[in-house]
Amino acid sequence: MAFIQISEAMQPAKEGKEVSIRGWIHRKRTAGKMLFIVLRDASGVMQCAVKQDKVDANGWENAGKALIESSVEVKGIVKKDERAPGGYELEAAKFGVTNFSEIFPISKDQSTEFLLDVRHLWLRSQKLTNVMKARDFAQRYFRDFFQTQGFWEVTPPIITKSGCEGGSTLFELDYFGEKAYLTQSGQLYLEAFITALEKAYIFAPSFRAEPSRTVKHLTEYWHLEMEAAYYGNEENIKFQEEMVSYVCQKIAKGHPGLLQFFGRDPADLLAIKPPFDRLDYDDAIAFLQKKGIKKEWGDDFGAEDEQALTGHLKRPIFITGYPKKIKAFYMKLDPKNPEKVLCDDLLAPEGHGEIIGGSERIWELDELLRRMKEQDPPLDEKDYKWYVDLRRYGSVPHSGFGLGMERFVKWILNLDHIRDAIPFPRVINRCYP
Ligand code: 4AD
Ligand code: MG
Repeated sequence: MAFIQISEAMQPAKEGKEVSIRGWIHRKRTAGKMLFIVLRDASGVMQCAVKQDKVDANGWENAGKALIESSVEVKGIVKKDERAPGGYELEAAKFGVTNFSEIFPISKDQSTEFLLDVRHLWLRSQKLTNVMKARDFAQRYFRDFFQTQGFWEVTPPIITKSGCEGGSTLFELDYFGEKAYLTQSGQLYLEAFITALEKAYIFAPSFRAEPSRTVKHLTEYWHLEMEAAYYGNEENIKFQEEMVSYVCQKIAKGHPGLLQFFGRDPADLLAIKPPFDRLDYDDAIAFLQKKGIKKEWGDDFGAEDEQALTGHLKRPIFITGYPKKIKAFYMKLDPKNPEKVLCDDLLAPEGHGEIIGGSERIWELDELLRRMKEQDPPLDEKDYKWYVDLRRYGSVPHSGFGLGMERFVKWILNLDHIRDAIPFPRVINRCYP
């Protein structure tokens, strides 16, 4: 007999029908000659009532022996039952065990560190299962948005010779006797695609040897990046707010239950609509100073500043016009003030922090070479020769940005820590399991 998913077995149309489901024992309790076994599969949980006189002797014995997290198969009749979770129960006629689980190491009230040690088992928790579902939906909607805007998805290399976001967070590796790095961003490569495809995006891992232990930093994260020919800073910013709003609307309308599971009111995401507020960097500094936070023009923002800037907000906000000295070498200088660059950071509300970094790019050869020399230490032209080449053969103005998927998921699900937005988090003190 064909197996169906639990979500399907719990539909009113299945009441009184015989179905077969399979999954893992989520909870179990005995009541005399009866066992209540809550079964979990990818779609949900369903209570199965196993009665000694309704299943064969073997089935009854196995049901009794099987511990939590054993994988089992149950055939039976769907009954309406107000006391069962979800309002339906499966009255078992047949009970089979695929694998008898050993005593499951995770029980109630375990420490965060322990749960991280057994992440491969904790993945089946309702919380992480729901995060992964929400993340998958988000990724689909981002891709949908790019497609509707005429973008091509391409793939960048992960092993590179050239850093993108400064030397301090590069993971170095020995590439057959030569120095190479794990990529910090696919951006530089993405810029090579615009003279072929004009509009391209990637969704790939980026690596940062972040020495910081914060709730917003991973050492390996998934980076959604786009690059578009002929886009200026303004088009770039508009694209970002349209994209973020599109995904928020889709999730709020399509998956309110998932959001509610995390205590996120779907109305919060329904309120995410363009245009977003913008704050010039200079005004952001003034705002922080007024709040008594010690900041000077030229400082970058840390967690405390992001909290002060967005803790009270319900919608994301763009910070624009950062000083060139705290931003990457490839950003276009502001013609009105060459100490600043044409860029934006999009900060999520409620203190969740920066989710996007974007800018117009330097597309003229001399300006790029000059800015590379100005870096401290200066960038080695040899490593960037190919990137500089892009300015020699048919260069055009262009802009782009990168969004950290885990930062985005952390915000929309209102998670306390970024590590729960990724199945196997890598942070400064952990790359296991
Ligand atoms: O602001 P960043 O460093 O910008 C870039 O890498 C550009 N090259 C992107 C581009 O223009 N194509 O990183 C972009 C985003 C950040 O806004 C943040 O969401 C995320 O990547 N991010 C991290 N996420 C998790 N852990 C980290 N350590 C992160 N560092 C950056
Ligand atoms: Mg940034």
